[in-house]
Amino acid sequence: MNIVLVGFMGTGKTSVAKKLSKLTGLPYISTDELIEERENKSINDIFEQNGEPYFRKAEKEIVREISQLDGIIIDAGGGVMLDEENIRHFKNKGVIICLNARSEVILKRMQGKKNRPLLNVSDKLARIKELLDKRESSYKKADNFIDTSDLNVDAVIEEIRKILNLRF
Ligand code: S3P
Repeated sequence: MNIVLVGFMGTGKTSVAKKLSKLTGLPYISTDELIEERENKSINDIFEQNGEPYFRKAEKEIVREISQLDGIIIDAGGGVMLDEENIRHFKNKGVIICLNARSEVILKRMQGKKNRPLLNVSDKLARIKELLDKRESSYKKADNFIDTSDLNVDAVIEEIRKILNLRF
C-alpha cells in the first residue's frame, strides 16, 4: 500500500511525508522533485518557460509511473487532485490523505517562499482563497482529511498513525 499526501501548498505535505518516511522506513517520493529531475529545471522555470499545461502533463506522467510502485510515501504536488486519472491511479494502490489548512495559515507558511509560481502575485491571500475555493471539490475526493492549521508535524503524524492504524 502507498500513503499519498495531497492538499494545498503550505499544508505541510513535504515535512510530514519526510518524517513519516523516516518513522515507517518506507521510501519518500515527491512528484515535484521527480518532475524537476526529469525536466532538469526548477518548477518555476517549467511554469515560466513551458507553461502550466506542460507541467500538468509531466506531473500526470510521473503520477502514472510512481503509482505502479508499492509501499512508498508520496508527497504529491498541490494540483494533482485536479485530474481524475491521477486520483484513480493513486487510489488504485493506496490511500489518499488530504492535508488542509486555513488560508491565513497557508499565507504565513508561504511567506518569503519564491518557488510557488501560482502564488507569485501581489495579493497572495486573495489568490490562495480563490484557488482553495476552485479546488475544494477536488480535494474532497481524498480518502481522509487532516486540518494542520494548529498542528505541528508530530501531531499530524500521530493523526495519520491513528487513521491508518500504523505501528511505529
Ligand atoms: C502546485 C503546487 C506545488 C507545485 C506547483 C503547483 C499547485 O507543489 O506542484 O507549484 O498547483 O498547487 P506543493 O503543493 O508541494 O507546493
